[in-house]
Amino acid sequence: MAGDFFGLSGHVIDGQFHAIEVAGDGGFSVVYRGQHLTLREPIAIKCLKYKHKDPAILASFTQRFFDESRIMYRLSQGNLNIVRAITTGVTVSPTKGASVPYMVLEWLEGESLSQRLKRLRAAKGPGLPLREVIEMFEPAALAIAYAHSQGVVHRDIKPGNLFMQTTQAGTNMKVLDFGMAKVLTPEAMGGLESAATLGGVMVLSPQYVTPEQLEKSYGPVGAWTDVYAFALIVVEALTARRARVAETFPDLMLQITQGDAPTPRRSGVVVSDAIESVFERALARDPKDRYPDLGAFWGAVKTATTTPAPEKPVAIPQDLGSTAVMPQSRAPTNFNQTMPLSPRQSSVAPRPPFAGTMPLPAPQRAAPPEPEPTPAPRSPPRPPQKHQDERRPVLVFFLVVFVALSLGASGLLFVQMLRS
Ligand SMILES: Nc1ncnc2c1ncn2[C@@H]1O[C@H](COP(=O)(O)OP(=O)(O)OP(=O)(O)O)[C@@H](O)[C@H]1O
Ligand SMILES: [Mg+2]
Repeated sequence: MAGDFFGLSGHVIDGQFHAIEVAGDGGFSVVYRGQHLTLREPIAIKCLKYKHKDPAILASFTQRFFDESRIMYRLSQGNLNIVRAITTGVTVSPTKGASVPYMVLEWLEGESLSQRLKRLRAAKGPGLPLREVIEMFEPAALAIAYAHSQGVVHRDIKPGNLFMQTTQAGTNMKVLDFGMAKVLTPEAMGGLESAATLGGVMVLSPQYVTPEQLEKSYGPVGAWTDVYAFALIVVEALTARRARVAETFPDLMLQITQGDAPTPRRSGVVVSDAIESVFERALARDPKDRYPDLGAFWGAVKTATTTPAPEKPVAIPQDLGSTAVMPQSRAPTNFNQTMPLSPRQSSVAPRPPFAGTMPLPAPQRAAPPEPEPTPAPRSPPRPPQKHQDERRPVLVFFLVVFVALSLGASGLLFVQMLRS
């Protein structure tokens, strides 16, 4: 853990917030694990780290920092997977003697997604299965989608800003750090003006930076910016590798502005066509080709995983003189295993071998009147089993028996009548 930049560990801030130890040290802040003394609840105390001495820049930093807490407070009221801000204030560093703006947040037990992914990469195994990844990312996806619906763009989606909170109910991914957030609709955020960055500085994480954040020619930053970064992180969880691997910083920049989108398939993961094309779109270099916001992207991911893959027709070979087509996804790879031949079918004259794996059903007229075997679950639909002419002799037989019985009964009745 990084050092205590402000020397606040062990101190009580404003008589209420006990800073216990450093829990995280980011680019702009030091986060302490703490305790709310009156509520007796664990809290996080995030203190703004700054190096500028210029009072104007410091004032702008402080304002932006407080704006961040207001954004989080508002958003967390609508979605519980956005870390909740409790209050803000300014304290004095016991070691530096300088003013330290701080915000108090709900404490999250667990680890950041960057720690989780680091362990996954270190294991050098395969990535996580798609189903697990979707389940894992869903709370954060919905939280960011909610922020977008409120006109807030995060702009700094990266694994360090997603947190795997562990609760009694399980693990839940939450969204942290709206320090770079851009407010597009101030009225939705209680009149909060924004689009300003901390002191005019925009610090981005090179691994998750988007083309439009690097090159103005791609147009403005928007909710689509979060879509791109979020999709990159999902790919990292699927592959257990970094979505972008480059030797040098300029190489990395070149990859972002000129390389192919690092979709799951290009990163070596086997996924359906539907999933691949969803990621192709989410990671499109040109923001105009992307999903407009996270809600649209996540909706497409869910649809692509729940809808069965479109069935591609596979033509039955010509030598069978058939025009029948079989949906590819239903064609068994080894027909003998999935549908054993019944005695009736095996009595049919052998057919010439063919390249396809799907034999045609036996001719219906050749079938003797024995009960049909239970069809295997993957078998194609069968036509009606019995024809009219097969039933006729049975009907005639029953008619003759019926007439004979009727005549016999009438005779007996007649004899009875004579006796009486
Ligand atoms: N509420 C919290 N509960 C527990 N840990 C937290 C909390 N908030 C932040 N942290 C920890 O502190 C780290 C840094 O937090 P945060 O991202 O908010 O700060 P930052 O200075 O803006 O970071 P960066 O510039 O690296 O994005 C997180 O990755 C997380 O490990
Ligand atoms: Mg952060």
